[in-house]
Amino acid sequence: MTTAFDPITVGAVEAANRIFMAPMTRNRATLDGLATDVMVEYYAQRSGAGLIITEGIQPSPVGQGYISTPGLHSAEQVAAWRPVTDAVHSAGSVIFAQIMHAGRIGHPFLTGLTPVAPSAVRAPGHCVTTEGPVDNIAPRELTEEEILQTIEDHVTAARNAIEAGFDGVEIHGANGYLVQQFLSDNVNLRTDRWGGTVENRVRFPVEVVKAVAAAIGADRVGLRISPGNNDLDIVENDPAELYTTLLNALSDLPLAYVHMRETKDDRDLTRKMRAAWSGSFLLNPVYDVGEPHKALAEVLDEGIADAVVFARPFLANPDLTARIKTEGPYNAAAPNSFYGGGAEGYTDYPTVTSA
Ligand SMILES: Cc1cc2nc3c(=O)[nH]c(=O)nc-3n(C[C@H](O)[C@H](O)[C@H](O)COP(=O)(O)O)c2cc1C
Repeated sequence: MTTAFDPITVGAVEAANRIFMAPMTRNRATLDGLATDVMVEYYAQRSGAGLIITEGIQPSPVGQGYISTPGLHSAEQVAAWRPVTDAVHSAGSVIFAQIMHAGRIGHPFLTGLTPVAPSAVRAPGHCVTTEGPVDNIAPRELTEEEILQTIEDHVTAARNAIEAGFDGVEIHGANGYLVQQFLSDNVNLRTDRWGGTVENRVRFPVEVVKAVAAAIGADRVGLRISPGNNDLDIVENDPAELYTTLLNALSDLPLAYVHMRETKDDRDLTRKMRAAWSGSFLLNPVYDVGEPHKALAEVLDEGIADAVVFARPFLANPDLTARIKTEGPYNAAAPNSFYGGGAEGYTDYPTVTSA
C-alpha cells in the first residue's frame, strides 16, 4: 500500500514524500512585490514537504488582490525569488510558484488600477490597502484583447518563475479569483466565446493552462481547482458538470498535476473529479486540522489522491512531515498573524526538537 513517505513523481519533478504544502498568502513581501529574507527562511523551514506550492503570486500589476503579496512580472521580482528557490533546493525539496490573478478582488488604492473581471460584477467585502480597508469596487469587464493579454501575462509569469529557479507553476483556478470568476455562473455574464455555455466558461482556464504548458512544458504545470466553492460570493450551479468538462478539455495535456481543494464535505464530488483526471491528482481535503495524519491515511488508503496537500498544519508546524510520522503533537495555527507582519507567527513556530 502507498504510504505518505513513499516518493512520487509529479510531472518533471521527484517529490521525496506525498505530504505537500498548500499555497498560503502571508503578505510578507514588499509593497512592490519583492520576496523578502523572512520569506526565504519561512520556505526553507518547510522543506520537509514533498512539494511546496508558494503563496499566490500576481502575474501582472492589475492581478494583485492584496497588500504586500509577491509578483513575478518584473526583473527585480524574479531576482528576489532566487534565494527562496535556492534555499528550498538546498534543503532537498521542490517548489512550484502559484500564479494568482485576483480578478475582481483588488483596488486602485492598492495598484493604481481598476480591477478587471469577466463581467463588471462587484465582489462583497473590502480590500486592505495602504489607506486601510476600503469597500471593493465594481471591476471593469475585460475586452477580448485584454483576455488574450491576460493569458500572455500568465505565460510571462511562468517563464519568469522558471528563470527564478522554480520547478514549475500552479495556475490558481480556485477560491473565487480570476479563473474561477470565468468558471462561475454569477461573475461571468458574458455572451461572447468566453461566457454562457459550460464549454465557453471553461475556455479561459483551458487557454491559460495550454499556453503556459506550451511555454514551459506541461510536466511543469499544475492546476488548482475548488469545485463548488462559494468563497468571495462565487456561485456554480453544477460543479460536477463544469469541472468534468474542464478536466476533459485538458486531458490531452500531460500536466504535472491537478490539485483539488475540497470546500464542502462532499467526497463524492471529489471522487468524480479524481475519476475525470487520469494524471497525478492532489487533494487538499476537508479534515480535522488537529489530526492531519488521519486525513492523510484515509485519502491515500482509498487511492482518492496521489498526494495530500495541507495548509494550516504547515503554517504552524515547519517540521510537519516529521510530526506526521509520530502522529503529532502539532502546534496550532494563530490566525491573527496569518496575513502581514514580520517573523512573529511566521518563522517562529517551534519544531519538535526546538520546543
Ligand atoms: C493564511 C492562508 C492563506 C491562504 N492563501 C491561499 C493562496 O494564496 N492560494 C490558494 O490557492 N489558497 C490559499 N489558502 C487556502 C489554503 O491553500 C487551503 O486550501 C485552506 O487553508 C484549507 O486547507 P487546510 O485545512 O489544510 O488549512 C490560504 C489559506 C490560509 C490559511
